[in-house]
Amino acid sequence: MRLAVLSDTHGNAAALEAVMRDLQNQSPDAIVFLGDMVMRGPQPRECIQMVKSLQPHAIIRGNYDDLFTRFPEPGWSPSSEKEELVLRAFEYDCQHISAEDQAWLGNLPTELSLLVDEVPTEMYHAGPDSLYKVVYPWATLEELDTLHRREETRLVLYGHVHHSHVRQGNGRLVVNCGSIGLPFDGDNRASYAIVDIQKQDMAAQIRRVSYDIEKAISIAKDLFMPDVEAFEYALRTARYPYGLKLSTS
Ligand SMILES: [Fe+2]
Repeated sequence: MRLAVLSDTHGNAAALEAVMRDLQNQSPDAIVFLGDMVMRGPQPRECIQMVKSLQPHAIIRGNYDDLFTRFPEPGWSPSSEKEELVLRAFEYDCQHISAEDQAWLGNLPTELSLLVDEVPTEMYHAGPDSLYKVVYPWATLEELDTLHRREETRLVLYGHVHHSHVRQGNGRLVVNCGSIGLPFDGDNRASYAIVDIQKQDMAAQIRRVSYDIEKAISIAKDLFMPDVEAFEYALRTARYPYGLKLSTS
């Protein structure tokens, strides 16, 4: 069984397009998508259509997908620059995503446990019980060990931190597939993972795929996406841009 693990497209359809081409060569038996399909990038509607067209075995809800149909709460107003930015991105996405797809995004499952071949597997956006939990590649083994619920689990898949990695701890393989649309690990190529499973044996690889970054940026500008400078900086540098003082010239 060859499993492709995709996550965090964040509305960057140019990056997803390139990953879909790469997937054709990899010929996975199944695909899972671990959330944050939209927000921060210019083409949320296209990302939804493209992810659906892949007919993933599972699609998990990310923290940004979770906002739809339940944000902002009555009486809420942004109290920080980051919250203002989230609100602007949310308003942009609401204009581009149908009401039906907004409800679909906001009600995706938050986790899945299943047997892949003979391997007990758990998958999350960020971790059990939280869509916002942050476990970086350099986490301690103790932190890594908080990413599963069941003792018998041997494979844990998650996204969210936009830093891909493959680690082993306490008899489990933990794979973070990284981000397709908005990597923050210094490598500006789209990131996803392939896990090969034969009965109880596993091998994981992170794939990095070059794509047309200039095209993604020019689409964002043409569509008057808010905070395009931050998006541009993130795409070029693969660094977290939000909260930085960026030139708007
Ligand atoms: Fe994300």
